[in-house]
Amino acid sequence: MTETLSQPVVIKAQHPEISPTESFANDVLSGMQASPKRLSSVYFYDEKGSQLFEEICDLDEYYLTRKETEILQRSSGEIIENLPRNTHLVELGSGSSTKTRILLEAALSRFDETQYSPIDISSEMLASSAKDLKQRYPELKIEAIAGRYEFGLEQILQNNDSSNCIMWLGSSIGNLTRKEAADFLGNIRLKINGDDCLLLGMDLRKDAEILEPAYDDKMGITAAFNLNLLDRINAELGGQFKLDDFRHKAIYNVEEGRIEMYLVSEKDHEVHIDHFDKTIPFKKNENILTEYSYKYSQSEIISLAELSGFYLDKQWLDDSGWFSLNCFKPIDLTPA
Ligand code: AVJ
Repeated sequence: MTETLSQPVVIKAQHPEISPTESFANDVLSGMQASPKRLSSVYFYDEKGSQLFEEICDLDEYYLTRKETEILQRSSGEIIENLPRNTHLVELGSGSSTKTRILLEAALSRFDETQYSPIDISSEMLASSAKDLKQRYPELKIEAIAGRYEFGLEQILQNNDSSNCIMWLGSSIGNLTRKEAADFLGNIRLKINGDDCLLLGMDLRKDAEILEPAYDDKMGITAAFNLNLLDRINAELGGQFKLDDFRHKAIYNVEEGRIEMYLVSEKDHEVHIDHFDKTIPFKKNENILTEYSYKYSQSEIISLAELSGFYLDKQWLDDSGWFSLNCFKPIDLTPA
């Protein structure tokens, strides 16, 4: 099909077998009954949480977004030229696609046809950002997919004979443990072709003096982002959490190379959650683990690539060497 559609196409994932509220409920209950207690960082991003995350990206202390933007601004031409002609750009967790615009512009000016497929769980976000992009770049072909990454990738990679670059920016991979990251990328490796590649934004290991403030800012935006999880349980599951009874904590675990975020109980107390008709006990200073944010060394990046069937083809850093953009290309799986 050569005609450029005037409207972006948004494909919706089929209804999952279990409703979003039920999977939230299941995860909250098992996390509150676990020891130590935990809540998954995937639940940060309701409307309020997504808005708070946008504010985090603008904070002085949160260098990640600025450094990645710096790399994209300086190297987008080179990044695009490192790809086969007319490579189809696929993005995981595109959100509002702000940083991606830099790459899209580089592609639009170098390719004679640019196709972009953002995959995101939020169909509202996708529809509005796809519409904006289509208005700004009428010649861009957009096929947005609302759904889980695995589902979206399958949709795109099936019956598609162009090369694909799968972009996962913003250090989102940091929410996975090193093992989960290798498994996730390893699964992608099995679905792609020899001339496809990955473009991964990965935050680098650095001093705790820089890392901890990035996750515990002076204005308390990250604290509000973390505490919003409790608000969400209150709103969606009839939780009786009082936000004043918990405080935000972010520490850098040097051995593991990860930021760990917690909600810490200020006192011995109990919280009822109506949806389960259960009461959850908290000890003073008891932690609820809410997020891991893994940081990578150069050798950890290389071994992640190797463990998942790729090699590090090219890497771009910002001037301070705090953040990295990595192009992973697949290792040939068929023996010679
Ligand atoms: C969206 C996962 C990349 O880990 O830096 C920001 C989330 N948490 N501040 C990160 C986050 C607290 C962010 N990621």
